[in-house]
Amino acid sequence: MKTGTKVLAFAVTAGFALSAGAQELTWRSDIAPIVKKGCSECHGVEAPEFGDWMLLPDAKRKKEGPRMDTYTTFMNYVAWPATGAVMRRLDDGVAAGGKPGNMYKYLGDTDAERAANLKTIKAWLGEGAWNLNRFETRGNVPGVTKEQLAKIKAKY
Ligand code: HEC
Repeated sequence: MKTGTKVLAFAVTAGFALSAGAQELTWRSDIAPIVKKGCSECHGVEAPEFGDWMLLPDAKRKKEGPRMDTYTTFMNYVAWPATGAVMRRLDDGVAAGGKPGNMYKYLGDTDAERAANLKTIKAWLGEGAWNLNRFETRGNVPGVTKEQLAKIKAKY
């Protein structure tokens, strides 16, 4: 009886883990809502696209965010041209050496919500795709590799 209960508990847990893992995350159903809630106030439809934002004077660029509320604009800060910006800004500090990225706080109202949303975004980008490297080498941080970029899944 005791063993039976354990086996059942294991089967239920394994089954749950399996279905949660097998479920494919998409921009449309899993990521867009997080961005809409936490980021679009400053990175929404009113915000300039990356190229225009880069043309702004420095002082203005510090106060205004660039647009990233659509799949295409968001991916500008994942893959190109602002390679790894999403990862650097949203990292909880574990990969960035103890200090969270300056946009991490917008991932949620509580620690639990921020952690859960970060986990969802990481899982959506793909196993091994959370790389903080820029496109080019900067100081002692090497530029991103083709192998690292190839890990990006990020289903629409
Ligand atoms: C209250 C306004 C505000 C909110 C909310 C906000 N941001 Fe930002 N964000 C900014 C501003 C202003 C900048 C430009 C200044 C800077 O680099 O920190 C910026 C810069 C960024 C950059 C760097 C872009 C680049 O190419 O250097 C990323 C990536 C980013 N934000 C992601 C996010 C994400 C993702 C969210 C939601 C989880 C978010 N931000 C929420 C204001 C905001």
